[in-house]
Amino acid sequence: MENLNYVIHPLTQQDEPFLWQMLYEAAHLAEESNLTVQDAMNHPELLKYVENWGLPGDIGFAATLVNSDVSVGAAWLRLFTKNNQGYGYIDDQTPELAIAVLPEYRNQGIGTKLITHLIAAAKVVHPSISLSSRKSNPALRLYQRLGWQIIPGSETVNRVGGISLKMKLDLAAMQEAITN
Ligand SMILES: CC(C)(COP(=O)(O)OP(=O)(O)OC[C@H]1O[C@@H](n2cnc3c(N)ncnc32)[C@H](O)[C@@H]1OP(=O)(O)O)[C@@H](O)C(=O)NCCC(=O)NCCS
Repeated sequence: MENLNYVIHPLTQQDEPFLWQMLYEAAHLAEESNLTVQDAMNHPELLKYVENWGLPGDIGFAATLVNSDVSVGAAWLRLFTKNNQGYGYIDDQTPELAIAVLPEYRNQGIGTKLITHLIAAAKVVHPSISLSSRKSNPALRLYQRLGWQIIPGSETVNRVGGISLKMKLDLAAMQEAITN
């Protein structure tokens, strides 16, 4: 496989259209043949991950190909509240991760790179990062490799009738392990 030449850069408000596309991938809508990006934009539980990107506390990174300036992946965090929870909500202090890489660019380390950047930026601001994932998603292994742990008892039935669960990365503990 040809070596991919890409850069990781912070997301800005200009990246919002790309984030909708990434949400469509992250929420697995792309795997359902009748759904479009517009369905992610119309979905009340999904749109809140991207709508008005650039709110206080939002942190994210995109991977963009150097030669074509085309973005191929993004990982981002947003804080939710008790009254406006994301699928991976734990508490008001813990932002939730969303991530996707375009299908033809998966399994080449881009997701790992994106999350590594996100962790470095988040650990100076947030105590932890949560996420929600389908139990069957191979990405679970990626999350566990990077330090996320499954929250016992967090399993729920998801949009398509499968099982999803919540995971948490303890940034404060990570930071302590580095400094000690
Ligand atoms: C999950 C995802 C962002 C990872 O990005 P990536 O660039 O493929 O990741 P990397 O190459 O750095 O790491 C490979 C790991 O990603 C995961 N992965 C690979 N292909 C995947 C796929 N098609 N779907 C989900 N996860 C995948 C695996 O855990 C793999 O590690 P493993 O081989 O040890 O199991 C990407 O695969 C993706 O967009 N998947 C579909 C959307 C999704 O599931 N998003 C997360 C929702 S919780």
